[in-house]
Amino acid sequence: MKKNNIKIKQVMAGEKKISIVTCYDYSFARILNQSVIDIILVGDSLANVSLGLADTKEITIEEMLNHTKAVSRGAPDKIIIADIPYSGCQKKSSQPLEIAKRLIQAGADGIKIEWFKGCKKVIRKLVEKNIWVMGHIGLTPQTVHLLGGYKVQGKDKESADKLIKQAKLLQGLGVSSIVLECIKKDIAKQITESIDIPTIGIGAGKHCGGQVLVLYDLLGMYPNKMKFVRTFSNLSYQIKGAINLFDQAIKKETFPSNQESF
Ligand code: KIV
Repeated sequence: MKKNNIKIKQVMAGEKKISIVTCYDYSFARILNQSVIDIILVGDSLANVSLGLADTKEITIEEMLNHTKAVSRGAPDKIIIADIPYSGCQKKSSQPLEIAKRLIQAGADGIKIEWFKGCKKVIRKLVEKNIWVMGHIGLTPQTVHLLGGYKVQGKDKESADKLIKQAKLLQGLGVSSIVLECIKKDIAKQITESIDIPTIGIGAGKHCGGQVLVLYDLLGMYPNKMKFVRTFSNLSYQIKGAINLFDQAIKKETFPSNQESF
């Protein structure tokens, strides 16, 4: 049994709202390990915010595995969920199962999988193998081309009904929680009330069972601020300041000092 299986159950069944933040590397994972955050997500947003790729579809399985390993080295005490990347869902339906097993070997306690056409078969297989699965519906970046671009979901009755149906279906398949991304808050509320497992919102309003944000967004390190992001810090400014001080110290020959020399 994975180290954190009992912890996941406690967090998911608890009365309190669930807090999740993404993380992709060892140094940040060490800091998160000392924080009170409930869960770390090694999201495939890694593609955008860490690797500078335009599309999360471009992330490779090996990249997801390496970053999951790094995070798990830095945050041994935290529950870690890793995304199954787009490339992992393109071949036969047994492939995501193999990838999920590798992500778990790399240190993940569970996996997240975005909604796609063949996801039901895949999720059934994962749950059968006792793999802890988090679903993801609404604005699913891996298949954003099928949604007509980055748009808020659940705006009309047809789209709202579809989302509620997907959530119920995922619950029936045995997922343990569902990310609701960029969904109108009233629809997210309806989804949350129509299932027994927690919903985790990102741009889905306050009625979800928990919230997730991308680490660099909440730290104020990423320039493209979406409406739903709150920046809890301005690290970009602070980092620039520190780097400029370093440069000045070199130019003024105050660094390194005698104490900093051998
Ligand atoms: O990849 C990611 O970071 C995510 C979150 C935005 C939910 O899927």
